[in-house]
Amino acid sequence: MTPSTRASHGKDTVASLRAKLARLEREAAARERQLERYAADLREIFKQERNRAQELRRSYKATVLALANAVEARDAYTGKHAERVAAYGLRIAHAAGVEVDTQAEFGFLLHDVGKVAVPDAILFKPGPLTKEERALMVKHPEIGTEILRHIDFLDDAKIVVRHHHERWDGTGYPDALAGEAIPVPARIFAVADTLDALTTDRPYRPASSWSEARQVIRAAAGTQFDPAIVTAYDTVPDGAFARIRDGIA
Ligand SMILES: [Fe+2]
Repeated sequence: MTPSTRASHGKDTVASLRAKLARLEREAAARERQLERYAADLREIFKQERNRAQELRRSYKATVLALANAVEARDAYTGKHAERVAAYGLRIAHAAGVEVDTQAEFGFLLHDVGKVAVPDAILFKPGPLTKEERALMVKHPEIGTEILRHIDFLDDAKIVVRHHHERWDGTGYPDALAGEAIPVPARIFAVADTLDALTTDRPYRPASSWSEARQVIRAAAGTQFDPAIVTAYDTVPDGAFARIRDGIA
């Protein structure tokens, strides 16, 4: 190889290396653009998934509320009871340092769904119930659980529906569970339910004041209610419950 052919060969090598480098850079840039497109697609998919999940949660809540309202529509005196009880329950749970998930909230809202199977004549009877009428009335937690049986997204809510009439001393129904055997959301619910029952007008008696209701609930700590939940409830001022009630009315 003469010096001139060596020089021209060297130029060729440099030129081909440059060309190769330029090609590699173009390929790298193309790959980068491709990755950016993937990342953008993924972000878009995540966003859509998040929106869909939110939409699903909203639909669940609306369905649960519709069901709860369908039960309450029969009884002019308990209007919005389920919504108030759910909100009181969440407030008491917060005071007790208990994490209450959406499922438990759905359980609060649907607690009396089984009452659809109780005839009006029994549900609204002004006087005391006969033995047979009471036997049917106390079936509503089991009937409620049965109604919701095939609704998978309400699995934990059913626990509240089934156990909302259990008592701390084991004399409640349907399973006569006692103390800590009663699921925590059901123990919280029991206090919230009594609070709302006492502080709303009924055909046979006017509403109690918040402080009268507090006396009744305190007196039932250890018999009807979990004493720890009553202690937590006692840390929530009357005004907080009043604001919740006014917000729902
Ligand atoms: Fe009930």
